[in-house]
Amino acid sequence: MSKSNASQRLPRAKGIDMANLYSPKECARKAKHLILSEVNQRIVKEFIEILGMREEFEQHGVPVPNKIVMYGPPGTGKTLTAFYMAKVLELPLVLVRLDAIIHSHLGETGSNIRKIFDYASAFPCVLFLDEFDAIARTRDNNDEVKEMARAVNTLLQCLDDFGDRSIIMAATNLEKDLDQAIWRRFDTKLIYTVPGQEQRKLYIEILIGELECDPSIFTETCRQLAKCSFADIEQIVLKAKRKAIIERMPLQMKHMMNAIEEYKPIIVAAY
Ligand SMILES: Nc1ncnc2c1ncn2[C@@H]1O[C@H](COP(=O)(O)OP(=O)(O)O)[C@@H](O)[C@H]1O
Ligand SMILES: [Mg+2]
Repeated sequence: MSKSNASQRLPRAKGIDMANLYSPKECARKAKHLILSEVNQRIVKEFIEILGMREEFEQHGVPVPNKIVMYGPPGTGKTLTAFYMAKVLELPLVLVRLDAIIHSHLGETGSNIRKIFDYASAFPCVLFLDEFDAIARTRDNNDEVKEMARAVNTLLQCLDDFGDRSIIMAATNLEKDLDQAIWRRFDTKLIYTVPGQEQRKLYIEILIGELECDPSIFTETCRQLAKCSFADIEQIVLKAKRKAIIERMPLQMKHMMNAIEEYKPIIVAAY
């Protein structure tokens, strides 16, 4: 039986309604077009290569990496990278939003963290902790919230005890708020930014796909959408395509401009 079939039979996250489980096949569907910066491509490639050489690393007494932290503005591919990693490693993905744990169960944050790690330790997987800063904020900032300080300690302990057969990936928009002790636990760091010109052009080409269009649209859209995230570019191009399709016209810059005006993208200047 293939690994992806096997993952369909994994135990459901009993009593942990904040964890979602995706099979490698579902992950493959979601991670079709991931565009990474050159640096991130190199880091991800090396990470995967090392996991394929476990024995050699054991012989040399060098631990294999298994904890990745990703940070950068929203809509730049952090979640998508987690799906991509699960797809390439043919592992199921356990997705948990840490902010959900805090908001819905304030009295039980620590025990929820433990439950999630216990669940994810029962089988090889990619454990993806999204909105990581919700718990990993510096303890100094949260002195008044003793609960949170305890939760951070629990998280540290769980990270240390996590076996090396599985991968932990954590994503945050606010790396500055992360507790230093937690930061140090991660052997691999990926920094995300809004796409540069080349990546933006490539992504626009992928999104426009086969739809008939005015050839000048690629360069002009690329110029108009400078400093937008991948997620915003996706929404705008899809909106413009819809407009062209209902008009039964080739895609033109006027569709794109209307889409931009209606969508009102967030321009990320700080990054
Ligand atoms: N680097 C990227 N390459 C390709 N598509 C992307 C990328 N980043 C974002 N997207 C698109 O935007 C959507 C949301 O991105 P996501 O990975 O959830 O962003 P983040 O987790 O960084 O907030 C994705 O599902 C995808 O359609
Ligand atoms: Mg995300």
